[in-house]
Amino acid sequence: MSTEKRTTHDALEDPRNADIRIYINGDIVRRDEAKVSVYDSGFMLGDGMWEGLRLYEGVWAFFDDHMDRFFNSCKAVSLDVGLDKQGIADALEATRQANNMQSDVHCRLMLTRGVKVRPFQHPSLSRSGPTLVIIMEHSKPVDSLATPGIRLATVPQVRGLPMSQDAKYNSHSKLNCVIACLQAEQAGADEALMLDPHGFVNTTNACNFFIVRRGEVWTSTGDYCMNGVTRQKVIDLCRQNGIPVFEKNFSLYEAYGADEAFLAGTFGAQTPVASIDGKPIGDGTRPITARIRDLYRDLIARHVVEQAGS
Ligand SMILES: Cc1ncc(COP(=O)(O)O)c(C=O)c1O
Repeated sequence: MSTEKRTTHDALEDPRNADIRIYINGDIVRRDEAKVSVYDSGFMLGDGMWEGLRLYEGVWAFFDDHMDRFFNSCKAVSLDVGLDKQGIADALEATRQANNMQSDVHCRLMLTRGVKVRPFQHPSLSRSGPTLVIIMEHSKPVDSLATPGIRLATVPQVRGLPMSQDAKYNSHSKLNCVIACLQAEQAGADEALMLDPHGFVNTTNACNFFIVRRGEVWTSTGDYCMNGVTRQKVIDLCRQNGIPVFEKNFSLYEAYGADEAFLAGTFGAQTPVASIDGKPIGDGTRPITARIRDLYRDLIARHVVEQAGS
């Protein structure tokens, strides 16, 4: 097995990223001047929400879906965004223009509960109003990932029940997922395949997970994973194009025996899985994954035309 390290977020090195402009609460500053307080709730506690978005031909793909999730998450943790959806769109546009960016761009939009008056947990100590940061980088996923695929290892860390920390929160604290990723690395894999609290196959530490068996596409019920924008687009595309798709419980038994497996996320779209726990997935031909990738590419192209014209 190759020992070359891969991640689902591998992007081509781009020297322009050394000199990008970053948005902080209405100011747009050079990367090396972009700083938040050590008293910030995000730094101190991981108390914040974020979204990852991609720019295609000047259009933020599926912006409305991302904003639905973002505003729902913020509301659920009583985090006042301080802007409406249009305000976020305007902040993204100002940052995009400051960076003169058009395509192959990834954005991390982050909102925290803001600066605390004392270094303790209670949310009432965050009194500055929220901190909004927008990082945009030139980012083209490496093609090399599409061919070999990613190596997953199942790990002890689960994404758990909604009453501990609902997996639908895209929270600043990713410690649960970071622990999973470390466990996978220590097992010699690239990233983690996480189970749900009942032992069914659930998600990876950074993307939603799909398998293909006998022409059918399966993914988890959705109860214990991120309500991924890309996950939903894949499900919708399958339904619209006559590809049988099921959100259901399945175990490692079925995942190991799958014909194909792939991850879904905003950054990499659909990333094929090479192996799980050292067991190669399928025979390396991936016709359904390739079809879904093509359908997704066409969907983005249509979406960009629609949005650019609106
Ligand atoms: C744990 C996890 N699963 C899945 C996803 C993919 O979600 P999306 O398709 O909305 O990018 C993410 C992305 O933030 C994530 O952190």
